[in-house]
Amino acid sequence: MSYYPARAVVDHAAIRANVERLRAAAGSAEVMAVVKADAYGHGIVPVSRSALAAGATWLGVAQLGEALGLRAAGIEAPLLTWIFGPGAPLADAVAAGIDVSAAAPWALAELAAAAVAAGRPARVHLKVDTGMARGGARPEAWAELVDHAARLAADGTVDVVGVWSHLARGDEPAEPTTAQQLDVFRAALAVVSRAGLHPAVRHLAASSGTLFHPDTHFDLVRPGIALYGLSPAPEVSGAVELGLRAAMRLEADVILTKDVPAGTPVGYGHTHTTASAGRLALLPLGYGDGIPRHAGSGGPVQLGAHRAHVAGRVSMDQIVLDLGPGGTDASVGDVAVLFGDARDGVPTAQDWADAAGTISYEIVTRLGTRVPRTHVSQEVTP
Ligand SMILES: Cc1ncc(COP(=O)(O)O)c(C=O)c1O
Repeated sequence: MSYYPARAVVDHAAIRANVERLRAAAGSAEVMAVVKADAYGHGIVPVSRSALAAGATWLGVAQLGEALGLRAAGIEAPLLTWIFGPGAPLADAVAAGIDVSAAAPWALAELAAAAVAAGRPARVHLKVDTGMARGGARPEAWAELVDHAARLAADGTVDVVGVWSHLARGDEPAEPTTAQQLDVFRAALAVVSRAGLHPAVRHLAASSGTLFHPDTHFDLVRPGIALYGLSPAPEVSGAVELGLRAAMRLEADVILTKDVPAGTPVGYGHTHTTASAGRLALLPLGYGDGIPRHAGSGGPVQLGAHRAHVAGRVSMDQIVLDLGPGGTDASVGDVAVLFGDARDGVPTAQDWADAAGTISYEIVTRLGTRVPRTHVSQEVTP
């Protein structure tokens, strides 16, 4: 049963345009479309196909299971995965030609064993921690990790395809951290070439590096959020300014309206009271769909000509809009837009992020799986 009175419309023309924008920014570097977390809530398989059709040449995911899912869907592009623990089914990844990140000796040892089991070399990207203290080997452990990889490369179990790292403050162009991380990355690359390894792809930049730091591009950039048309650094530059198009438009049908007198308390806890007589409209989306409850009454919604805000608390499955006395044109069946592209005169995921005190990444990624995704303007077979 696919009926749902709300939907996330995913515009593949926007995805393709964003890939083209990022390719232009990347110069001679190739583009890895980062499609983890179900393509930030947009739908991993259809988004991957559109990104590849628009000229991305790599895909990147966090979880091994996401990578295997892409291969099961028949997607053959170069593909990197970077989150797994001891005992992960790495032989399946190696057999499927999935590139795997390694940042510790145990990971290299398991990859070597997986290569033997799969009967082909494991394609590995060695990850160095250049200053984020999250993934990656610390610089003091790097030479040993590289030597280990070089030995495995010499015996044919491992193919060192990449060397990579991640920026901690790429979204703050004025901060010196990126330049410091670049120095550490270059030193790490020197260790790799001294060990006789010549990885095909060196990569460091996510969306903010791609857009704001050309010196971090190397051979490959790994944009995620910008692919979906959202700014990685809204304080620096908004999506429209960056030439990006929001790919997701979250719509909900009005399922009930009611005319109420001034002073009507609304919703759980009666945290909102109507200031004047007017119309309320009920929308079938709530925190069970990923609408942030802590956005409170700050969450913006476009309904026809009205820029309304959530009235009172977000319920699990519903929100109420207070349209006031001017709301008499709103009726059941009208379509409200919670967020979409600013150029369409609707609120954005960034507006919701601002209302909820978070980042746009969380707004789109957390959108509930029960909200249907409607894919439009696809050029490639879904
Ligand atoms: C290692 C890595 N590379 C690239 C990305 C894409 O980042 P962004 O969405 O900021 O472009 C992420 C996402 O968090 C990541 O973890």
